[in-house]
Amino acid sequence: AMGMVMVMLAALLASFAPSARGLDRGEFPPGFLFGAATSAYQIEGAYLEDGKGLSNWDVFTHARSRDIKDGLNGDVAVDHYHRYMEDVEIMHNLGVNSYRFSISWARILPRGRHGDVNSDGIAFYDRLIAALLQKGIEPFVTLQHFDLPHELEVRHGWLGAEIREEFDYYADVCFQAFGDRVKFWTTFNEPNLFTKFAYMLGMYPPSHCSAPFGTCNSGNSHREPYVAAHNIIMSHAAAVDNYKKNYQAKQGGSIGIVIAMKFYEPLTNATEDILAAQRAMSFEIHWFLDPIFFGEYPKEMHEVLSSNLPKFTAAEKRLLQNKVDFIGVNHYTAIYAKDCISSSCDLNTYEGNALVLAIGERDGVKIGKPTAFVGYYDVPEGMEKIVKYVNLRYENTPVYVTENGYSQYSNNSMGDLINDVGRVNYLHGYLSRISSAVRRGANVRGYFVWSLMDNFEWAFGFTVRFGMYHVDFQTQKRTPKLSAKWYQNFLMGSGPVN
Ligand code: NOJ
Repeated sequence: AMGMVMVMLAALLASFAPSARGLDRGEFPPGFLFGAATSAYQIEGAYLEDGKGLSNWDVFTHARSRDIKDGLNGDVAVDHYHRYMEDVEIMHNLGVNSYRFSISWARILPRGRHGDVNSDGIAFYDRLIAALLQKGIEPFVTLQHFDLPHELEVRHGWLGAEIREEFDYYADVCFQAFGDRVKFWTTFNEPNLFTKFAYMLGMYPPSHCSAPFGTCNSGNSHREPYVAAHNIIMSHAAAVDNYKKNYQAKQGGSIGIVIAMKFYEPLTNATEDILAAQRAMSFEIHWFLDPIFFGEYPKEMHEVLSSNLPKFTAAEKRLLQNKVDFIGVNHYTAIYAKDCISSSCDLNTYEGNALVLAIGERDGVKIGKPTAFVGYYDVPEGMEKIVKYVNLRYENTPVYVTENGYSQYSNNSMGDLINDVGRVNYLHGYLSRISSAVRRGANVRGYFVWSLMDNFEWAFGFTVRFGMYHVDFQTQKRTPKLSAKWYQNFLMGSGPVN
């Protein structure tokens, strides 16, 4: 009967084969990590349990529920805190060899470095890590995925220099507690995205609205996103330095950082648009990675921002000399970049501070199939371009694709949510591009689907779903979607999948 089911599944999957060439796990190098990703606030729930302190997101979602699309929050999320054993079992069935998750800072240090370490918080991650390792699943751990103890947010959060010591201390507690078993660490998730959302567009806590251009100007300093970024870069550097000096030799792990990266294509082949695409890449990627690799912000940012851009002191540059072992790339979409220096645009957008407008279509033709997430399109070739771009600019440092995924609107019918053909096509296309990039010599070591299961999508609440597993947000029941079966089929590795 099982054989029959497999034959039927194969026939079903073949029926919407998007390309002639099958995608084959066997073509990836041995040891390549294949996983799924989540983050603490988006899945754990249990927001007041076992000594956890309030995080900035706990406070923000309660105080400003109008800023969340459905007015909801992560108090319960998908109850992973209580269901982690079931979730590890799901991963085991799926066949992943790695799992990317984040640690809730407020669970470990409810009051920051001046308070106690919460041993129940440590115990939770100990149990999770043990369950993963028992199934042969490599933990791939993010230290900071948007949420931080509320008390630290109140003490100026990322805008104050004190946060550097706080982060360094927190990272040290984690290396010490888990580093004997965790071999992959990343300091920050998408700091380039959250600093803009938190300090420019007002969408994430502490909801400052300070876009230097356009209408989003409530009086906060235009420098805020850059000051926060500077503190993050130095917090990252301190933690990497500590890890390299005090832990790496005895624990044998590696450490990196995760950056959100779109691939910007010039809207036209006019010089202005080509430069605009470069500026957008600069403000998005080089902003964090240039300091980390070369000790300096990119020249495009200096040109546009001049004195609004902080400077690295000699001591800071010294601290930045310890390099990351790998770069985490979160990639979902490619987009057109239009210049806004020679012509005027509405700059009150994510890319506005680079004097660039990001547009999804050219001459009425979309860059790819739209997804439920505004501005995200299915453009598989962008994946190959972005990993090559990162390899080329940053010394061929190993890349892990730490996120890639596809969203559906929650209010689709259950049938459409489960029969997620669009997600299968998307994942197939993007993974195929990684496969071809790797065959052509790109230094890519792993790939994680965002997300293992549907969860709390920040300002969008529960209105969009990225999971390979459907979650009923009332009953918390997990159900595999077609994409989970497709990924499982690919991971079994017995031959190409369509
Ligand atoms: C970016 C973030 O890291 C993650 O938290 C988010 O849910 C996904 N990508 C989708 O937007």
